[in-house]
Amino acid sequence: MKIQIITLFPEMFDGVFGASMLWKAQKDGIVEYSCINLRDFGLGKRKTVDDTPYGGGDGMLLMIEPLMKAVEAAKNNDSKAKVLLMTPRGNTWLQSKAKVYADAKQGLIIICGRYEGYDERITSVVDEQISIGNYVLTGGEIPAMIVTDSIVRLLPGVLGGETSAEVESFVADDKTVEAPQYTRPAEFNGMKVPEVLLNGNHAEIDAWRQNNGGSGIDE
Ligand code: ADE
Repeated sequence: MKIQIITLFPEMFDGVFGASMLWKAQKDGIVEYSCINLRDFGLGKRKTVDDTPYGGGDGMLLMIEPLMKAVEAAKNNDSKAKVLLMTPRGNTWLQSKAKVYADAKQGLIIICGRYEGYDERITSVVDEQISIGNYVLTGGEIPAMIVTDSIVRLLPGVLGGETSAEVESFVADDKTVEAPQYTRPAEFNGMKVPEVLLNGNHAEIDAWRQNNGGSGIDE
């Protein structure tokens, strides 16, 4: 699966894509990440990518022309890729959406917004606008990392082969979280592991886990 990220700050991705499971997924050929530097498509000698908003207002917007050219460059690499725009105005990202994109295995082009926003006309080439929650970040880079991580870990072969991605939080309904877990020692500073988990009775353990999961959504 090819994941291309359009960003002004490609170096932000080095750490996240260069470590742990995301790194291993690329090493194993399951996924291929690349960053497209929006600055390369900037206008004029100064490679300008932003301008003031029509109608006035604070800050600068990413201009349509560099954005469009960057998307075209990404489409030249992968013509069938879906284009996602990271924006607080998008659909809320959920486990079920990560699963849909992981199952589709179609390439992705992820556009990271910056500054005060972007020229809205870029949405004409976007398949889905995505928000990672109701708060505003300085840009779409961290959301792009979150979206990528949540998809890549679901690709076959990325997690250690177990069913770990099937029995975990949010899988069933985007709400229910797994029961708490414990490992050795059975007692630490007077805090004991629940007895039922030590007795080896799998029916009882399953029942305890069913009853001790919870709603991951704040009331
Ligand atoms: N860019 C800035 N804030 C964001 C958010 N909450 N989700 C996605 N993209 C963003």
